[in-house]
Amino acid sequence: MQGGMRNAHGGRRTGLILALDSSDPAEARRWRDAAGDAAGIIKLGLEFTYANGFDAVRQLSADRALFLDLKLHDIPNTVGSAIRALAPVAPAMLTIHAGGGAAMIAAARAACEAAYPAGARPILLAVTVLTSFDAAALAETGVGEEPRRQVLRLGRLAMQSGADGLVCSPHEVAPLRDALGEAPCLVVPGVRPAGAEAGDQKRVMTPGETARAGADWIVVGRPITRAADPAAAARAIASELAAV
Ligand code: C5P
Repeated sequence: MQGGMRNAHGGRRTGLILALDSSDPAEARRWRDAAGDAAGIIKLGLEFTYANGFDAVRQLSADRALFLDLKLHDIPNTVGSAIRALAPVAPAMLTIHAGGGAAMIAAARAACEAAYPAGARPILLAVTVLTSFDAAALAETGVGEEPRRQVLRLGRLAMQSGADGLVCSPHEVAPLRDALGEAPCLVVPGVRPAGAEAGDQKRVMTPGETARAGADWIVVGRPITRAADPAAAARAIASELAAV
């Protein structure tokens, strides 16, 4: 699984990741099947995994590339061991918190290299500043930076320490590309098709806008899973991406 596909002109082709945010395996399976090939990767996170366990994760992703979004954050040895323990689940993408620091990120990368077959190791993605943080919430944790500056700081640290890419909001894509160039695989939630309800996502962009800004993958959940016709909604987003 490569991060960052290329189109026929050598440009970036942005892919669709379907977020299956449910604790119910039957519901998640319905959403997965409705989206079909429109979504190249399915994302399962803490909710599904804690509710159903890793056997259910493996069943749901048996014929799909899996983004396992567990946002690991612990001492380097524990994160490395956890990533090695996840090898039987064969994730195509994994998340860690960049705030875990350089040694933790390096340990995560080393575990990816050691425990997965060459050419099939997961894309290691770092989460920088959760979008639930504003400047005041960051200050409460002792971080005096504006969120945007902290995103760039942690993004740079993550890439220097062995991450393959970053999870970021649509509005962070262009600044991260300016600062870090083409190397990071940028995976972007908070995307809404024109006319869709924003829900609890505050600063959204459309799939086309996010692709043009330089995203490698967009992550979309409710605009597909809660649509009257999830299959049509997934196809429409995939077509919008293909047209960029
Ligand atoms: O339903 P929706 O399209 O908002 O889902 C987006 C997915 O991306 C969810 O799984 C959510 O947890 C995740 N996510 C997010 N915003 C972030 C990081 C992750 O919405 N900043």
